[in-house]
Amino acid sequence: MTKPGAGAKRFEDLLTVMPYAAVIVDQQGRIAMANSLAENLLGYGPNELPGRPVEILVPERFRDQHLQHRASYVADPRLRPMAAGLDLYGRRQDGSEFPSEIALTPLPGEWGPACRAGTGRLFVLVVIRDISDRKAKEDKLRHSREQLRELSARLLSIREEERTRISRAIHDELGQALTGLKMDVAWLQRHLDEDRSTLLHKTKAMSELIDTTIQTVRRISTELRPAILDDMGLVPALEWQLQEFQARTGIQCRLVCTVEETTLDADGCTTAFRILQEALTNVARHAAATQVEAQLEETAGHLTLRVQDNGRGITEREIDDPQSIGLLGMRERALSHGGEVEIDGTAGKGTTVTARLPVCLRTGRPLGTVRGIGRAT
Ligand SMILES: Nc1ncnc2c1ncn2[C@@H]1O[C@H](COP(=O)(O)OP(=O)(O)O)[C@@H](O)[C@H]1O
Ligand SMILES: [Mg+2]
Repeated sequence: MTKPGAGAKRFEDLLTVMPYAAVIVDQQGRIAMANSLAENLLGYGPNELPGRPVEILVPERFRDQHLQHRASYVADPRLRPMAAGLDLYGRRQDGSEFPSEIALTPLPGEWGPACRAGTGRLFVLVVIRDISDRKAKEDKLRHSREQLRELSARLLSIREEERTRISRAIHDELGQALTGLKMDVAWLQRHLDEDRSTLLHKTKAMSELIDTTIQTVRRISTELRPAILDDMGLVPALEWQLQEFQARTGIQCRLVCTVEETTLDADGCTTAFRILQEALTNVARHAAATQVEAQLEETAGHLTLRVQDNGRGITEREIDDPQSIGLLGMRERALSHGGEVEIDGTAGKGTTVTARLPVCLRTGRPLGTVRGIGRAT
């Protein structure tokens, strides 16, 4: 052991004023000095730490790993600042543990040998921060985020169930009542004499009104949830939606599918379908586009839906804006199904929304078709 010199005093002073727990470790991994914050944090009394191997401060299960890390540090000693996310733990004398952040720096050569109780040429200053509080807050925050996410997923699915129920009720009950009414009016017409022209005229008007109301009921029911999605599956539903969008907006639409039908489950199909709807609404509202191409492909356990327009192109700011609730909604939908949404824009060239959703590993039947929704080429 080297005799303590003037350098040791300077180090003791430095360690004393440091607002963090800190120890100095020699080349052999023995603790040469510790400040009182370190003693308190680690549960040791004054002067109990010097001379002990630094591994006593590391939980048993990490000790072998720590020895290796220490050997590589000795081979290439340099400043290693505190870094979040390393998942390090300190061990107190009583065996309890605390999450920590640790910074390392080799000490100036001429100071090192002066350390009390230390040997060798290399000395390392180890600064230890107890991050239990921060970790606990982070865990709480993560937990509440997860809860929010679950809530949002639950709300989305309740909303979808409700829309399905209302859509069916409107379609079946109102639709049937109107059809019955229309038959009654037709009966009335057949039993009216030719000379009751005013009444005949009236019943004709009634019949026409019933027809438009039936159309309206169908539209409302489809807007709530297109039956085609449940009856025919995702691909026909996407095709239908693009056709309807093209007819309504005059924007040329095209669907490119590499599968005839997806293996995605019903919830996943709803997710993909709603993402297409939101993307199309945005194209109509913001893009000033003349063409939209939707691509659907299924590979390696993932279904990818890409919606690309040739409009003005969304900006980075718009993508990152927390007020972009529609974009957030798309992301949340995908997340609730274990997937993700990526949004890209190029000024003057257009915007691409890409949704990736996990599917079970059974692959879809390959087809390689361009679906003919007003084929662009
Ligand atoms: N296809 C697109 N082309 C250009 N800009 C877009 C497109 N989609 C979205 N944006 C921009 O991103 C913003 C955020 O979209 P969104 O969250 O859906 O909000 P909203 O449609 O309610 O304005 C829009 O206001 C618009 O400025
Ligand atoms: Mg929108």
